[in-house]
Amino acid sequence: MKCLAVLFTILALTEGITKIPLERGRKLRDVLREKHLLGDFLRMHHYDIGTKYSPFSLTAQVADEPLLNSLDTEYYGTIYIGTPPQKFTVVFDTGSSNLWVPSIYCSSSACQNHQRFNPSQSSTFQRTQQTISIQYGTGSMEGILGYDTVMVSSLTDANQMFALSTNEPGAIFVYSKFDGILGLGYPTIAEGGATPVFDNMMSEGLVPQDLFSVYLSRGSGSVVIFGGIDESYFTGSINWIPVTEQGYWQIALDSILVNGQEIACSGGCQAIVDTGTSLLAGPPASITKIQNAIGATPGNYGEYDINCNNLSSMPDVVFVINGIQYPLTPSAYTNQVMQGDCTSGFQNTSGDLWILGDVFIREYYSIFDRANNQVGLAKAV
Ligand SMILES: *[C@@H]1O[C@H](CO)[C@@H](O)[C@H](O)[C@H]1NC(C)=O
Ligand SMILES: *[C@@H]1O[C@H](CO)[C@@H](O)[C@H](O)[C@H]1NC(C)=O
Repeated sequence: MKCLAVLFTILALTEGITKIPLERGRKLRDVLREKHLLGDFLRMHHYDIGTKYSPFSLTAQVADEPLLNSLDTEYYGTIYIGTPPQKFTVVFDTGSSNLWVPSIYCSSSACQNHQRFNPSQSSTFQRTQQTISIQYGTGSMEGILGYDTVMVSSLTDANQMFALSTNEPGAIFVYSKFDGILGLGYPTIAEGGATPVFDNMMSEGLVPQDLFSVYLSRGSGSVVIFGGIDESYFTGSINWIPVTEQGYWQIALDSILVNGQEIACSGGCQAIVDTGTSLLAGPPASITKIQNAIGATPGNYGEYDINCNNLSSMPDVVFVINGIQYPLTPSAYTNQVMQGDCTSGFQNTSGDLWILGDVFIREYYSIFDRANNQVGLAKAV
């Protein structure tokens, strides 16, 4: 029998995936935009003082957060919460914006199987009465919000709002390697109005540049780099693509080509760059065309099978973004599950958005630039 890895789609379901009334989204966005502007103002203020006296310019540093790789489908790293620090593994997820970890208030199987935060053992913990629930593409959680010190790599983020899970229903998180999720999306999609970790890193002046970048590999050595771009992870130049909607890291695709012919995304479409999604997902009709074009056939477990011996005769699938071609070779868009047995890295999604998940990011070092609201892509080494 085939041993298939659990595939995650850790993006918070919001507008575009489900139908949240636009009106509500807009109002929330306006409020948060104001908050964000306030953050910018404070930061500029620090920098003005900072040229001479501010501790911020001295402490700002590029911080590498190494990621572990489970079966090329889960990438996760270690963070610490509280005083003294309690240790957790989290997915650094650009498809959502909340930080949460399991807590002692949760008795779900998923929580019993993972590290649980105990607020009574942290002297810096501050509780709130506010509860949240988050629905992800796969899985969901409910929790209660609190504040504590969060350490990510060498960065210490004080008074970070995060959720202590109280319920993690279903099977999806039970066997996950990671305990929780650290969202790296925009504040507009954060539940409960929680300021995301990276927004605090920016406003507290912890990072020298308001961007982070992600390198994912099939072996070891994957990393999130907070506050910097590391040229040792890519070759050639970086192409910058404007963010079209500040929620997920959403960008416009021009088209998708196979053998030089447009196969999907005719006239353009929208995509998100999502580190929390294992595969590359798109609207079912388009994905089915791609599966047919690469010779993938429906398997028994909802996946699409490919004979690994056929890789050399299969076509590239080319994503055209901002006039530039980003090819995925057959070895990039397939996963080997057993000797000879490969599965397709393409997957149906339930919406109009394309999701450029780990299958894409492994090939293209990705830079998430909050200062200029753009995504940078460069050929990964
Ligand atoms: C693999 O290639 C062979 C020969 O070209 C073809 O008959 C077969 O359908 C292909 N199988 C898959 C799963 O693509
Ligand atoms: C993907 O979508 C196509 C078209 O709607 C459908 O025929 C196919 O069964 C779907 N595949 C899976 C695994 O759900």
